[in-house]
Amino acid sequence: MTDTAQLHYNGQTIDLPVVVGTQKETAVDISKLRAESGLITLDNGYGNTGSCSSAITFVNGEKGILKYRGYRIEVLATKSTFVETAYLLIFGEMPTSSQYTEFRRQLVQHEFIHEDMRHHLDGFPPNAPPMAILSAMINAVGCFEPVFMQPEDDEHFMKPAARLMSKIRTIAAASYRKSLGKPIVYPRSRLRYVENFLHMMFSSPYEPYEAPEAVVEALDRLLILHADHEQNCSTSTVRMVASSQANLYASVAAGVCALWGPLHGGANVAVIDMLQGLVDSGEKLDRFIARVKNRDAGARLMGFGHRVYKNFDPRATIIKESCHRLLEKIGVDDPLLDLAMKLEEVALKDPYFVERKLYPNVDYYSGIIMRALGIPTDMFTVIFAIGRLPGWIAHWREVHTNTNARIDRPRQIYIGDTVREYVPLEERG
Ligand code: SDX
Repeated sequence: MTDTAQLHYNGQTIDLPVVVGTQKETAVDISKLRAESGLITLDNGYGNTGSCSSAITFVNGEKGILKYRGYRIEVLATKSTFVETAYLLIFGEMPTSSQYTEFRRQLVQHEFIHEDMRHHLDGFPPNAPPMAILSAMINAVGCFEPVFMQPEDDEHFMKPAARLMSKIRTIAAASYRKSLGKPIVYPRSRLRYVENFLHMMFSSPYEPYEAPEAVVEALDRLLILHADHEQNCSTSTVRMVASSQANLYASVAAGVCALWGPLHGGANVAVIDMLQGLVDSGEKLDRFIARVKNRDAGARLMGFGHRVYKNFDPRATIIKESCHRLLEKIGVDDPLLDLAMKLEEVALKDPYFVERKLYPNVDYYSGIIMRALGIPTDMFTVIFAIGRLPGWIAHWREVHTNTNARIDRPRQIYIGDTVREYVPLEERG
C-alpha cells in the first residue's frame, strides 16, 4: 500500500504518492501534479527536489554518511583502490579477480591518445586553464573512436568506460606538461593507474619519476574519495545532458565545465588561495572570520559548508588524517596545513558557523594534500575530475540503461514582461 501526501489548494485536494528509498529517505512524487492541479513546484537550487531515483551512491547529510553501492566510504578509502572502486561504481559490484584483471588490461590498452590529439593541445595558449583543455580534449578524444561515443550494447560497456578513464589521465598530464612548455611523457604500461599518471606528470625524457609509495597511496585514496557524490552539480549536469541521449563524451565534457566553478570542484583551488592570502596579508584569523560573517565581498570560508552535509563531511575527516600522515611520511611541513587547522578550530567554535551547520567539506584539506604531492594549484580541479569520472560514467550509464528515462526539462515561473507592442526602429528615438 503506497502512502500518499495530500495537497489542498483552491478547493481541490490532490493525493500524491509517497516514494520511500532503500535507506528510508522519503519523497512526494509530483509527476502528476501539474496535470491534476495546474500547479508546478519551485525550488531555488533544487535543495528539496529529487531529480531521479538512483542506485549508485547514498549520502546522509545529517549523519555524515557516504556509501558507494552500499559500501561505506571509510571502508573503501582504507581497503580498496581507485580502479576497484571505479569498477564498483560503474558496474554495481566489486570485480572478481578476472574482471579486475580485464578492467586493468583495458585501462592499459587505452592509455595512449591519438598522436593527432597533440595538434589540439598545441592549439591552446600556454596559459589556457587546464579545465578548459580537459573539457575540450574529452570531446576531441571521442572523435577518434566514434564507436565509443554511443556505447549501445551495455554488456560491452567496460571498454568505453576504461577508455575514457584511461585517457582522461593522459590528457590531464599532457595539458600540465604543455602549460610548462615541457615535452609530453608517454604512459608506461607496467605502472598502476595513479603511478602512471604521476609518471606522465613529473617524469622527463631523460629521468623517469618514481613516485614514492606514500604519494601513490595518498593520491589513490584522494581519487576514491572524489569518485562519486550522488546528485551534485556536475553529476546532475552529466545526467541532464545524458537525458537527451547525448553521448558519453559530450555528457562528461559538460560535467567538467560544471565542476570548474568555485562553489563546486573549483573550491579546492579557492581554499589554497584563501589560506595563501591570509599568509601573504598577515590578516588575523578573527579579523578574517569577522569579514566572512559580515559577508564582505570576496570573504567566504572556502572549503566550508555543503548543501547536503549538515554534519562533518566524512571525506574531509579522512583527507585531514591522510594529510597529516602524508606530510609526515614525505617530510613536508606546509604552514597552510597548520593555518587550515587553526581556521577550522576558530570556525567550529563560532556560533555563526555552528548555527548554520557549516563544517569542512571535501575541498577543505584536499588542496593541501595535492600541494604536498607536487601538483600545481591550477591542476587541483582536474584531479577532482579524474576522481569523479567513474561516478559520471556510472550515472551516464544509469540514465542510458533506464528504459523509463525521459529528457530532463524543468518548468519555470515566468516573471518577465507580459504583453508588449512592437515599435518600429525609426520610432524608438
Ligand atoms: C563540493 O553537492 C556536492 O555533493 C558537492 C561536492 C561533491 O562531492 O560533488 O561535495 C563537492 O562542491 C563541495 C562544496 C565546495 N564549495 C565550497 O567549499 C564553497 C564554499 N561553500 C559555499 O559557498 C556553500 O556552502 C555551498 C555552495 C557549498 C553550499 O551552498 P548552499 O547549500 O546554497 O548554502 P547557502 O549558500 O544557502 O548557505 C546557507 C547559509 C547562508 O547564510 P544565511 O543566508 O542563512 O545567513 O550559510 C552561509 C550562507 O551565507 N554559508 C557560508 C558558507 N557556506 C554557506 N558562510 C560563509 N562561508 C561559507 N563557506
